[in-house]
Amino acid sequence: MVEVGVSDIAIYVPPFYLSHEELAKARGVPKEKYIIGLGNQKMAVIPNWEDAVTMAANAAMQVLEKTGTDPEEIQQLVVSTESGVDHSKAVASFVQGLLKIGTRCRVYEVKHACYGGTAGLVDSIDRISRNGKTTRKGLVIMTDIAKYGFGNAGESTQGAGAVALLVEKNPRLCSVDTSLNGVFSKDVFDFWRPTGHRVPIVDGKFSIECYLMALEGAVSEFRSNLGLEQGKLLDYMDYIIYHMPFTNMARKAHRRLIEIEREGKDLETQEEIYNQTFSDKVAPGLMGVREVGNIYTGSVYMGLISLLENEREKTEGKRIGIFSYGSGCGAEFLLYNMQTKISDIIDSLHFKEQLDKRKEITFEQYTQFYSKSSEEVFYYPDEASSFKNRYTKFVFTGFKDHKRQYI
Ligand code: HMG
Repeated sequence: MVEVGVSDIAIYVPPFYLSHEELAKARGVPKEKYIIGLGNQKMAVIPNWEDAVTMAANAAMQVLEKTGTDPEEIQQLVVSTESGVDHSKAVASFVQGLLKIGTRCRVYEVKHACYGGTAGLVDSIDRISRNGKTTRKGLVIMTDIAKYGFGNAGESTQGAGAVALLVEKNPRLCSVDTSLNGVFSKDVFDFWRPTGHRVPIVDGKFSIECYLMALEGAVSEFRSNLGLEQGKLLDYMDYIIYHMPFTNMARKAHRRLIEIEREGKDLETQEEIYNQTFSDKVAPGLMGVREVGNIYTGSVYMGLISLLENEREKTEGKRIGIFSYGSGCGAEFLLYNMQTKISDIIDSLHFKEQLDKRKEITFEQYTQFYSKSSEEVFYYPDEASSFKNRYTKFVFTGFKDHKRQYI
C-alpha cells in the first residue's frame, strides 16, 4: 500500500512578543503564576498589518518555496481557523489568490475550534490516498490569533501563528495511517465565541476537564485500533505531543495518560514513570508554546516543529503520538511514523531563528495593537511594504470597497 502523509511543514509567527513578566506586572499578578503555574514565558502579539490570512499565506509560502512545489499541483487547499475574516468568504480563498494556486483545486475553510486543523489534515490525507495520481498534493494550513480580552483569565494564554503542511503520497517527513485514529466528540460549552463576539467566552476549569475527558476517549479508541492492551501504549510511542493552550496543559494531559496506562500501580511508581516519560517523550516539544502561547488550530503542529528542531535526527524512524483537542468539543489521537533522512527538512524549519528575530514590545504597545479592529486599519502600500521581510511576505493594508486588501 502506498504511504500518505506529510512531506514538509513550516511555521510563521508574528514579529512581536510580550513577556509574561510584563503582563503579570500590569495585571498585578505574581509572575510565578504565569511562568511556573502555567509554564509560559512569552506570548506572540500580532500587529495590525497582519491577520489570519497573511499568517496562513506566510507559512504556506515557505512550504511551496522550500519544496519547489508548483502551485498548480495543489489539488486540495484547506485552511483551518477560528479567527476567520469573513462570514462567507473562506480564508482559504484569500490564500489561494495570494499564493496563485490554480482553479482545479478544492479550496475550503474548516472550523472546529483548535481541532479543525486535524480534521482538515485527516480529510486531505484520505483524499490524496484515494487519488490515483502521485503528483497531486494537498496544502493544509492552520492559522489563528488567540485573544481573550484584556484582564480575562485566558489572557496569559494568548498567542498567534500559522502552520502549513504539504500532504502527498510517499511523504518525505512522516506517514499517517488514518484508520488507526482514535476520535472523541461531545456537545459541551467549555469555550465558545457567539457570532458578533470579538473574544470567546470560556469556562476555564471546565475546559480542562473536557480536554482530559476527550483525551481518555480518544486514547482508548486509538489503543484498541492498534490492537494493544491497556498499559502498552506508553512504550509504543517514542514521543507524544498534546494540544497545548499553555505549557502545563501538556503536564496535566501526560499525568492523565499515566493514570490510564499505569492503572493499579502505586502513586510513587506512577510519579516516577511520569517524571521519566515526561522529560523524554513530551518536554522536547514544548518550546513553541512556552515562547508563543496558544495558536489554537496550529498548536499541536507547532509542538511537532519544536520537537523536530530540538531532537533533530533522533526523531528519525520514530513513532510520535499526536493528541489534537478542540473545544466544543472534538478530539483525535493519531500516530506519525517518521521517515529517515529528514535532516534537510529540519534544517529548513527556521523556527528558533524566527523566535530569536522577534522584538519585545511593552504592555502599552500590546494594548494599542489589540484595541484596534481591522476595520480601522489603513496603510499606504509603500508604508506597508516596509513591514515585509524574509518571513513576512504578505501584509494587510485595510479595506477598499468592503474588500480586504493585501500586498
Ligand atoms: P486561572 O484561574 O487564572 O488560574 O485560570 P489558576 O488559579 O487555575 O492558576 C493556574 C495555575 O497556576 C494553577 O496550577 C495554580 O496553582 C498556579 P495547577 O493547579 O493548574 O497546576 N499558580 C501559581 N503557581 C506558582 N506561583 C503562584 C501561583 N498562582 C497560581 N503564585 C486557566 C487558568 C487555564 C483556566 C485560564 O488561563 C483559562 O481560562 N485559559 C483559557 C482556557 C484554556 O486554556 N483551557 C485549556 C483546555 S481547553 C483547550 O485547550 C481548547 C482551547 O485551546 C480553545 C480551542 O479549542 O479553540 C483553549
